[in-house]
Amino acid sequence: MRLIQSAQNMARIAIADGMAPAAIELLENAGHEVVNEPISSDELLKGALSDFDAIVVRSATKLPAEVIAATSDRLKVIGRAGVGVDNIDIKAAAKAGIPVVNAPRASTQSVIELTIGHLLASLRHLPRANRGLREGKWQKKTMGGTELSGKTLGLIGFGRIAQGVGAIAQAMGMEVHAFDPYLPVKIAKSQNTKMHKTVDTLFKNCTHISIHCNLTDETHHLVNGERMAMMPGRSRDGINCGNHIVNCARGGIIDEIALLHSLENGIISSAALDVFEFEPIDPDYVLLQHDNFHGTPHIGAATLEAQSRVGKDIANAIMTVLNGDKCETTVNRDLL
Ligand code: MLT
Repeated sequence: MRLIQSAQNMARIAIADGMAPAAIELLENAGHEVVNEPISSDELLKGALSDFDAIVVRSATKLPAEVIAATSDRLKVIGRAGVGVDNIDIKAAAKAGIPVVNAPRASTQSVIELTIGHLLASLRHLPRANRGLREGKWQKKTMGGTELSGKTLGLIGFGRIAQGVGAIAQAMGMEVHAFDPYLPVKIAKSQNTKMHKTVDTLFKNCTHISIHCNLTDETHHLVNGERMAMMPGRSRDGINCGNHIVNCARGGIIDEIALLHSLENGIISSAALDVFEFEPIDPDYVLLQHDNFHGTPHIGAATLEAQSRVGKDIANAIMTVLNGDKCETTVNRDLL
């Protein structure tokens, strides 16, 4: 780890992607100088972080190995105001002796609620029905949907968010299945969830899939055309409900071109994405042209409550490291 000097009492902290005002106040009240403005990738590559003791990013600012290599010894900690750290090269940071800290619990409830919202919006055609109304169409006859109750939900990944989604889905009458090779069986058992040993059997058994894992080499395009074609389309209550997919986790886990083809050939009846492989997407992005697709611009954690918790958690994590203490949300701890 980089040496923490006495200047820690007055650290200079870059907030590159914004942060809740109360969290900025927390840092300033502790005597730190906060520079709350975006830093371009060009500036980062030219070593803009060398003038800072800490940087806090969300998902917009990318910190690859070249950016980390361009920092001076002054940079002591990188904060990710959120969960996913796929925009930061955590190995390169560890090699440079820089801990990367995140706020893994702060947005859980917000992402759970958005996921359920997307599921319901898909099944009852809310985006399409609203579009029709705006165009002066009263499409009562063509907006028939299906219930969640009686259907089988498959969760890819079974961490905090997936467990929360599963609990609400069960309360709405769904049977919940999950695939998570990293989860202790004990936890799955306590959630009344059928765990699958392979992701393929999850797809074969579930009419509704929701993604809740990290983006890694292993999960990149895990949801592909072949797997979508395995979904049954008919639920255990005997309804031809079709197949439905939601992703509020990370772009890149679904092969979006395969998803488009599956929507076109009717294998997938609806898809809702909050996250995309390449963000932001353009208005003419192909998926947006399909009637049974709707999306949101990566807003899983965009609630007042989540942002206030994220800001507070990450400000405290940053200060913990600057004080020379160990932070329990250091994601590259084992590599340092
Ligand atoms: C996260 O990883 O915390 C979410 O995707 C939210 C975000 O990046 O803004």
